[in-house]
Amino acid sequence: MYKIVKKQTLSPAVKLMKIQEPYVARKAQPGQFIILRVDEFGERIPLTIADYDRDEGTVTIIFQEVGKTTKALGLLEEGQELLDFVGPLGVASHFDGIKKAAVIGGGLGTAIAYPQAKQLHKMGAEVHSVIGFRNKDLIILESEMSEASSKLVVTTDDGSNGTKGFVTDELKKLIDQGNIYDLVIAIGPLIMMKAVSNLTKQYGIKTIVSMNPVMIDGTGMCGGCRVTVGGKIKFACVDGPDFDGHEVDFDEAMRRQMMYKSDERQSLDDHACRLGGESNA
Ligand SMILES: Cc1cc2nc3c(=O)[nH]c(=O)nc-3n(C[C@H](O)[C@H](O)[C@H](O)COP(=O)(O)OP(=O)(O)OC[C@H]3O[C@@H](n4cnc5c(N)ncnc54)[C@H](O)[C@@H]3O)c2cc1C
Ligand code: FES
Repeated sequence: MYKIVKKQTLSPAVKLMKIQEPYVARKAQPGQFIILRVDEFGERIPLTIADYDRDEGTVTIIFQEVGKTTKALGLLEEGQELLDFVGPLGVASHFDGIKKAAVIGGGLGTAIAYPQAKQLHKMGAEVHSVIGFRNKDLIILESEMSEASSKLVVTTDDGSNGTKGFVTDELKKLIDQGNIYDLVIAIGPLIMMKAVSNLTKQYGIKTIVSMNPVMIDGTGMCGGCRVTVGGKIKFACVDGPDFDGHEVDFDEAMRRQMMYKSDERQSLDDHACRLGGESNA
């Protein structure tokens, strides 16, 4: 069993938890993820390793309550335990030779981008971060991203905080101002990662995106997390989740993401029914 040693609410639907798991903490690297199960009836869900502390033996996860499992997880409190916490999984990010990078986070993608920005900053690279949210109430990790970056731009779609507009507009401004990036990392909704990749392709800037297809076993066996990259089939759980954004078939990934929507809605409705409440997803 894996104890929750810290719980924090970052925004109404986004929570941070620190889990006591020394074995995962010892081996974790930015870009990797874990698969957890809340209890014996629970589904396995993948969550990115947002941070780790090897001395404390803890691993931090940040999750948005979107459906049955993430809502059940959000109900747990400090001192309670998770049934399974498996990892680290996936290929760690490698930033050898990167001197200047732009890190782009869209919504919750900011939580997944944060360990990457932190790692680049720790290596001595100059990091410019652009993080975008629908509105001011959804902003997360602003101070953490600021600490990991020499320049931070926050955007909101509705202009309720920071610059009004999309992250792509701000990235384009930074590039047009003469910033020469060795690498752009874009993590967020598929549509955002596609837009960033289309933009950086025009400038010939290497771009890494983090794919988050539905994962089942997390071992490359079931094929659930299939993505097409450079015309070849890859499995995000073992070949990723980071891939070259200029090679990813985003349109196929978006079609596959839509395939499971009605099943997930049904599962959440059943869960809300059993809790005797209304779902608000
Ligand atoms: C490598 C990876 C890293 C991720 N990191 C984070 C993270 O750090 N924080 C975070 O909040 N979310 C992260 N996710 C997404 C997270 O796994 C889903 O939000 C979660 O599984 C939803 O489960 P649910 O039962 O609450 O919702 P559901 O109602 O079952 O699903 C809601 C949405 O979550 C996604 N989803 C559902 N089941 C899975 C699954 N087994 N695998 C992947 N996606 C699924 C689908 O897009 C779906 O539309 C990550 C996904 C992947 C693949
Ligand atoms: S989750 Fe089964 S192959 Fe990746």
